[in-house]
Amino acid sequence: MIVTEIETHPKTTGEQDGNRPVRIGAIGDLHLHDEIPAQLTREMRAVDSQVDLVVIAGDITDGGRLPEGELAYELLCEIKTPMIAVLGNHDRRGPRRVALRKLIESAGVKLLDGDAYMHDLPDGRRIGVAGVGGYGGGFWPEETPDIPGARLSKAVGVRARREAARLESALNVLARHQLDAVIVLLHYAPTTSTLGDEPLLKYWMLGNSLLGRVIDQHNVDLVIHGHAHLGNEYGQTPGGTPVRNVAAHVTGGPVIYDIVRGKHVDTVHNVLLSVRDPNMNPILHSGESDPHQPPGVPGR
Ligand SMILES: [Fe+2]
Ligand SMILES: [Fe+2]
Repeated sequence: MIVTEIETHPKTTGEQDGNRPVRIGAIGDLHLHDEIPAQLTREMRAVDSQVDLVVIAGDITDGGRLPEGELAYELLCEIKTPMIAVLGNHDRRGPRRVALRKLIESAGVKLLDGDAYMHDLPDGRRIGVAGVGGYGGGFWPEETPDIPGARLSKAVGVRARREAARLESALNVLARHQLDAVIVLLHYAPTTSTLGDEPLLKYWMLGNSLLGRVIDQHNVDLVIHGHAHLGNEYGQTPGGTPVRNVAAHVTGGPVIYDIVRGKHVDTVHNVLLSVRDPNMNPILHSGESDPHQPPGVPGR
């Protein structure tokens, strides 16, 4: 994997070049609650004009409530680029999940839940996305030692295996097609390498190694996830597939990646520099410091 900074690269450059990277914008964990941060709107607009596809890694809303869904609708209706998303655990908290899904979809978002989706670009290139929320369960024995007291319960194990199986099915569908980029979109993490400062005892809530194992059995270019607010952006599965934690608490807002199939993933920095205030995280400053922090545990 090679990660480099691209200086300038408008998406229309080199349109005749079959090797032109697939450019995606990515964000997760917007946790929209009572207002849309102005900085977030500015950054999403900047991304919109520069990318082939926007992917959203769940926790679009803070509590899955319909007024929060209406905020999501308002924000996402501004985006003209095709959007693909998975829901996060916070989006599933509200009592009216079907209505929330419809609201988000009516803003033009393709919601994936164990699905394979192929998106054709105007120049004929085709992007494959396997989207599934994923689940917790932990990373032992692959990436962490077994933690006494945090063994996965039967129920967590069942759901973790089911989600991994759904991811495998979606990737098997994509494997039958000629694609210019293959992306896995998750809410939960498939590796510990993007968990950063998350406490070890919380790992079982943040993802599981089954997801990473499935990914490594397929030809995946990039894995996008969120959920780990205290994590870090750059990581990889045990088999070396590039993974990016795009929780906005980690990245400071939307990020842009260029994918060259089977070769490398580059981070594009220049697009957002003109609109990003380095002193302001658009999500953190909306009032929620760490929605995953259990009550009584000091924040970081
Ligand atoms: Fe979150
Ligand atoms: Fe989450």
